Amino acid sequence: MIGVGQIGCGRIGMGHAYALRLLAQDGSARPVVAADPSAEAAAEIARICPFERTTTDPAAVIADPEVDAVLIASPTTTHPGLVRGALAAGKHVLCEKPLATDFPTVRDLCALAAAAAPVTQVGFHSRWHPIWLELRDLLGRGDLGAPMAYSLRDDQFWPTGDVVPGHSSWRSDRAQAGGGALLEHSIHSADLVTWVFGPVTRVYAQTRRRFGYDVEDVAVCTVEHASGVVGALTTVFNGVRGREERRFEVFCEHASVEATSDFLVGAPEDGLSVQRPDEPADRADVAALRERHFDAMGLPRRDFVVYLYPAARGWLGAIAQGRPASPGFADALAAHALVEAAYRSAATGAPVELAALD
Ligand SMILES: NC(=O)c1ccc[n+]([C@@H]2O[C@H](COP(=O)([O-])OP(=O)(O)OC[C@H]3O[C@@H](n4cnc5c(N)ncnc54)[C@H](O)[C@@H]3O)[C@@H](O)[C@H]2O)c1
Repeated sequence: MIGVGQIGCGRIGMGHAYALRLLAQDGSARPVVAADPSAEAAAEIARICPFERTTTDPAAVIADPEVDAVLIASPTTTHPGLVRGALAAGKHVLCEKPLATDFPTVRDLCALAAAAAPVTQVGFHSRWHPIWLELRDLLGRGDLGAPMAYSLRDDQFWPTGDVVPGHSSWRSDRAQAGGGALLEHSIHSADLVTWVFGPVTRVYAQTRRRFGYDVEDVAVCTVEHASGVVGALTTVFNGVRGREERRFEVFCEHASVEATSDFLVGAPEDGLSVQRPDEPADRADVAALRERHFDAMGLPRRDFVVYLYPAARGWLGAIAQGRPASPGFADALAAHALVEAAYRSAATGAPVELAALD
């Protein structure tokens, strides 16, 4: 059994802990230790998942001889030090996104991971969302014709204590988050468009800071892919508490596809429809689609664990079988490069070639 240590016991950490609990039940993980500077947060996590011990010292997780694999779910500024420490100790790593607050550090971490033996994975969990899985399958089948263009809009209430009482506030501070809506939230979409349409070559972007924090709450990017597909990626941190939605519209040669999802899985606005020539739109039964995904995984909870569980299961499976995990750090580098190109374009007012990023 693979000994797992978890670092960071906040919001996403609670979901990971629940996934680990299920993986412990089926014998694929041994939850050894959970760490958080807040002893209360660590204790709360131990109520979700039967970790053998908790600590307020993240370094103790990496040093623990019974820990083979380290799951990092702490704030972004802590990721580089923890990833480096874990890899130096020969431990496998699943690190939440973003990997770091700045691109040069991301690049260093990815080079380190590529040269290291341990299995590394990044937290691009949207890849397991039932609607995005279905969308990718649909486009990959070929009968809709080649994708031509897309529009992808992400929006989410401002995830900061000023807007949502009780929420942590590091995301509105550039020093801690590195960037706003684009880096912190829509790096998932940077990954999705790369996963669906292939490598990105060039980005032209604008950003805005309407709420007055030192990170952007609006970014609009024109994204060009090597395949010839061109898309518009828009992201907004807004003042509509409780709202979060991703909407993807893809135009192929012979059909258009529209997909909408919240992030927690199961909102009334969720949908997936395909419009073919001379036919009414074919609307998928997304509730049934979701149920099939939950059932296929044997998941008792009908929520966002639907993507945290397969992410952790995939990582542990890769470790057990001695193969690379997916999405790996190379996927993280590709998504971070899109975001970095967008920031540089917004700063200079000119399009940025990804190949020219130094
Ligand atoms: N993949 C996803 O869908 C997803 C979703 C949410 C958050 N995230 C990422 O996960 C990370 C955590 O986000 P969150 O929403 O859980 O934040 P949070 O603020 O809710 O929780 C962070 C936790 O980390 C703890 N912490 C602070 N410093 C630490 C350190 N040095 N070592 C260990 N723990 C420390 C805090 O006490 C807190 O309990 C961020 O990088 C965020 O971008 C990813």
